[in-house]
Amino acid sequence: MQEEKSGGSAPALPPDGEFPAEAKNSVYAAIFGRRDVRSFRPETVPDDVLARILTAAHHAPSVGFMQPWDFLLVRSRELRGRIKELSDRERHAAAVFYDEPRRDRYLAMKLEGILDAPLNLCVTCDPTRGGPQVLGRNSIPETDVYSTCLAVQNLWLAARAEGVGVGWVSILRNAELREILGIPPHVIPVAYLCLGYPEGGFAEKPLLESNGWRERIDLDLLVRYETWHSQT
Ligand SMILES: Cc1cc2nc3c(=O)[nH]c(=O)nc-3n(C[C@H](O)[C@H](O)[C@H](O)COP(=O)(O)O)c2cc1C
Repeated sequence: MQEEKSGGSAPALPPDGEFPAEAKNSVYAAIFGRRDVRSFRPETVPDDVLARILTAAHHAPSVGFMQPWDFLLVRSRELRGRIKELSDRERHAAAVFYDEPRRDRYLAMKLEGILDAPLNLCVTCDPTRGGPQVLGRNSIPETDVYSTCLAVQNLWLAARAEGVGVGWVSILRNAELREILGIPPHVIPVAYLCLGYPEGGFAEKPLLESNGWRERIDLDLLVRYETWHSQT
């Protein structure tokens, strides 16, 4: 999958200053229109579309330009079936931490689309990439995982622009995921994602907000000034 062939180049934009209004609106449209998707139609994502999405992910920032990510594409029904079993087991294991009636509500929610999505994708982080000394990573080694998360976010936004839904499944155990997918022990599975065209389109709000599980926190409560405890 070569970048040159996959639309990796950016659209023409002024070399500095703000984007023209239309381009700016597109960025915000992708950010606000992105959703975690859990129900998918069976159509496959065409190769050229997938290549553009992966290229966007690969252009994320990374500590020391380490690019610690790999993108493991999982189409096999057999492998996806094993991962779905793992997810079902973990979902039930987590249910014990909720009291009723929340436990029933938790168990009733669809929290993954592993089998309906035509494509699953495991985004991993290789902490050894770039050798023992990566510029900027000495004090905070976890910056490799942070970088990988940024690749996931790029992927998620580019997918939204392409009309492709992405759902993150974290109700899994990494040791078992490694075993099923043959991921070496030193490589960290960071994100297990389901990709495909969303059944019923992209919702306006997060599922957990529209079904009353949790509300979006008022931004004013999260912005602090100068030191943690100051009020203004
Ligand atoms: C690290 C991470 C793990 C997540 N794991 C799951 C998951 O296992 N199952 C699920 O249904 N959603 C999962 N989500 C999606 C969140 O529930 C979702 O992002 C949040 O409710 C906000 O909704 P939105 O993404 O549609 O804006 C995960 C999201 C993140 C960032």
